[in-house]
Amino acid sequence: MQTGLESSAVADSAIVDPSVEDNGETQWNVIVDAMSDPAVVLDDTGIVVHHNPQVVDLYPRVRIGSPVTMLSREPDLLSAIDSVRETNERFTVQLHDRVPVTRRMSAIVTRINVEDPPPGAPAILIMLRDLTDQEQYAQMRTDFIAHASHELRTPLASLKLIAETLQGPAREDPEKRERFLSMMLVQATRMSQLIDDLLSLSRVEMKAHLLPTDILEVSELAETVMQSLEPLAEAQNIALKFENIEGPVNVRGDREEIAQVIQNLVHNAIRYGKNNGNAKLSITRQQDPSTGQKQVRIAVIDDGIGIAAEHIPRLTERFYRVSAVDSRATGGTGLGLAIVKHIITRHRGEIEVTSEVGKGSMFTAILDSM
Ligand SMILES: Nc1ncnc2c1ncn2[C@@H]1O[C@H](COP(=O)(O)OP(=O)(O)OP(=O)(O)O)[C@@H](O)[C@H]1O
Ligand SMILES: [Mg+2]
Repeated sequence: MQTGLESSAVADSAIVDPSVEDNGETQWNVIVDAMSDPAVVLDDTGIVVHHNPQVVDLYPRVRIGSPVTMLSREPDLLSAIDSVRETNERFTVQLHDRVPVTRRMSAIVTRINVEDPPPGAPAILIMLRDLTDQEQYAQMRTDFIAHASHELRTPLASLKLIAETLQGPAREDPEKRERFLSMMLVQATRMSQLIDDLLSLSRVEMKAHLLPTDILEVSELAETVMQSLEPLAEAQNIALKFENIEGPVNVRGDREEIAQVIQNLVHNAIRYGKNNGNAKLSITRQQDPSTGQKQVRIAVIDDGIGIAAEHIPRLTERFYRVSAVDSRATGGTGLGLAIVKHIITRHRGEIEVTSEVGKGSMFTAILDSM
């Protein structure tokens, strides 16, 4: 229904605008059309004489020839229009629209024709800016800080509690003291792990727009990472396997970052794997069917708990965990896959996830090969 209204409003503006034929007199509206933000032009009496197509997305009811009140009845906007007529100053007002959706916008109202313009001549320019996205972004940042401090507060609270117990009831009990000290170590390790992950994430984010320039060989790198995870796998009774292809596997990439991708994926395969299960890293080649580009697939396959379909699209969100209790019990903070996603995006690669609850999961990073 709205689409009909939108297109009729666009047609409206196209018919009434005599812009190009008018030997330069009304070329101003070409400029309004070229503006990236939604913009509306009023005459001195507050009638809409022109608007660019972006306005239609925000106000499907906008019409050339109708009063500005058709656009919005926000008192602040209407009084800014009145004031601009008298003072020639520029005004910025905030609009809170609830129809058709809740939206926050700012409007800059400027006088563009000070010389007593006749009716129908452009006199006032309103430039609109949708602040909804910006506010959502600000909200995301606030959530991020809240999450990060919550994650730090939990081990910190444990540390405090243990220290108090050590000062009090466990003071003279060597056995308890020993146990509490190792608990402190676990919590402290957890906090430093979280800080390391947060720093990795912000380092990758800072480099997001820089394409890596180094060429690296993935097989040898993967071998090193697998070896470093062997003790962890052993402790969980998980057999680590590495299936590789012949010859060097070269990609353009940052060595440390690709190592981190493999490390995070294999670590997850171990952490969410099953006792006496397997975790396999497999490197294969493929050709992108649409571009013909040669690619490398780095797949990490486990036969562990698996992931229900509804969680898969959200796994790479910061702090997202299928079960916060399970993940936290094993020292997870939900940042591992967010880091993987950022690194692979920076490398212009892709991540694929397939999984079945109770059967296992496969995480694949796809990178262009050299
Ligand atoms: N191989 C896997 N099998 C089952 N679930 C997984 C697997 N990999 C990830 N997940 C799920 O995805 C969630 C997010 O993974 P992610 O690696 O980002 O965080 P994490 O492992 O909880 O903590 P960390 O930041 O230490 O890696 C996990 O909490 C887990 O629920
Ligand atoms: Mg992880």
